[in-house]
Amino acid sequence: MFSKEVYQQRRDALKTAIGEGIILLPGNEESGMNYRDNLYPFRQDSCFLYFTGIDRPDLCFMIDIDSNQEILFGDDATVEDIVWTGPQEALALQAEKSGIAYVRLKSEIPNALRGGRNIHFLPPYRAETTIKLSEWGVTGQPSVPLIKAIVAQRSIKSAEEVAEIEKAVATSVLMHQAAMELGIAGMTESAVAGHLQAVAITGGGNLAFPVILTVNGQFLHNHAGSNVLKSGQMVLCDAGAENNMHYAGDLTRTFPVDQSFTSLQQEVYNIVLNAHQSAAAALKPGVLFKDVHLLACERLAEGLSDLGLMKGDPKEAVAAGAHALFFQCGLGHMMGLDVHDMENLGEEYVGYTEDLKKSTQFGLKSLRLGRSLEAGFVLTVEPGLYFVPDLIDAWSAESKHASFINYAEVEKFRNFGGIRIEEDFLVTPGGSRLLGPPLAKTIAELDLVFNT
Ligand code: GLY
Repeated sequence: MFSKEVYQQRRDALKTAIGEGIILLPGNEESGMNYRDNLYPFRQDSCFLYFTGIDRPDLCFMIDIDSNQEILFGDDATVEDIVWTGPQEALALQAEKSGIAYVRLKSEIPNALRGGRNIHFLPPYRAETTIKLSEWGVTGQPSVPLIKAIVAQRSIKSAEEVAEIEKAVATSVLMHQAAMELGIAGMTESAVAGHLQAVAITGGGNLAFPVILTVNGQFLHNHAGSNVLKSGQMVLCDAGAENNMHYAGDLTRTFPVDQSFTSLQQEVYNIVLNAHQSAAAALKPGVLFKDVHLLACERLAEGLSDLGLMKGDPKEAVAAGAHALFFQCGLGHMMGLDVHDMENLGEEYVGYTEDLKKSTQFGLKSLRLGRSLEAGFVLTVEPGLYFVPDLIDAWSAESKHASFINYAEVEKFRNFGGIRIEEDFLVTPGGSRLLGPPLAKTIAELDLVFNT
């Protein structure tokens, strides 16, 4: 964990922003996979981690702003627990490391919340948390002021957070290098993905999200399966580690099973690369990420026009949403303690504002981040081109956007697959900085990896 002063400063800022009442941050619990004692890997709630740094199940943290008390609720391990788990650090010591003055038993939570006080809590995303809140007598709606205050704090990454994210990206780079080495004809997707998970765990943390490693890269979140990699195919690998502090990395590369792209694959790859480079170059404070997304979409539409798949003015095509036949999702998302940072707090607060609401247009409605960039934001840039036969058939049947799409040419690409290129950036006062060590990205760089 960071020094106690880091957590104290974060909590002081939160108290000032909220001003009155109680802030309640329940931690996560262990969760059984198929019976109670066969557990999923424990993952602490990211807001709990952000304000306490304590990475242990079954705790609850409360800030009583009115009496200026910070209390960690939980139970120390009993001798019978220790028989199974080994000794654990006393909660009082963990609280002290976080600068929290008071530790109380879990059974004291309902009493501490009595008295008609204003209780600020976040939207629960686990059933266990919903049940706990109800058992503690917490009613009403999640606190919008609390959501907004936390989003404001967590959106701006401090230097020490960026250093942790860079460690996670460095491990993610190792995962991708392993994928390029192992992703050869005859391997199954899941055999390669298994090695990537080992790299993530060896890095001290775990996967930031389940590995997407597929020869069917046209499906956006297609996890590794039993497909055997075959000559002529491309592998889309979207994978990232979180480090021991739970900061995430998230990278995507698409590479040829034969270690050399066909000329058509090269052409499409370079369209995505151009969109990626244009978007990355446009990142700076004050720019709407929605506009960066639209810029990337225009680059994709221009490239697709050169390839004969689209026609007409690329700007007009993008405004109409015609490019979404090939790019159905958003350009990127915030990243931090969550790979989609703070998504549980609500995209309307994390990625949008009162003045900028999310679009309902197909494609744009999947853009998680639209708002104006600020120095300290960490985000992904991940354009792609995806040829989804069912979508092509559906749009073609109704001649959708026929003034912008050459369906006869598109038909030739129905089995092409998908290409995505993704990197992680810190927005700086003067622009942006790529996070983590370099990973082969251009065709020349990939050639170098495969030919040395
Ligand atoms: N890279 C996986 C995701 O953004 O969901």
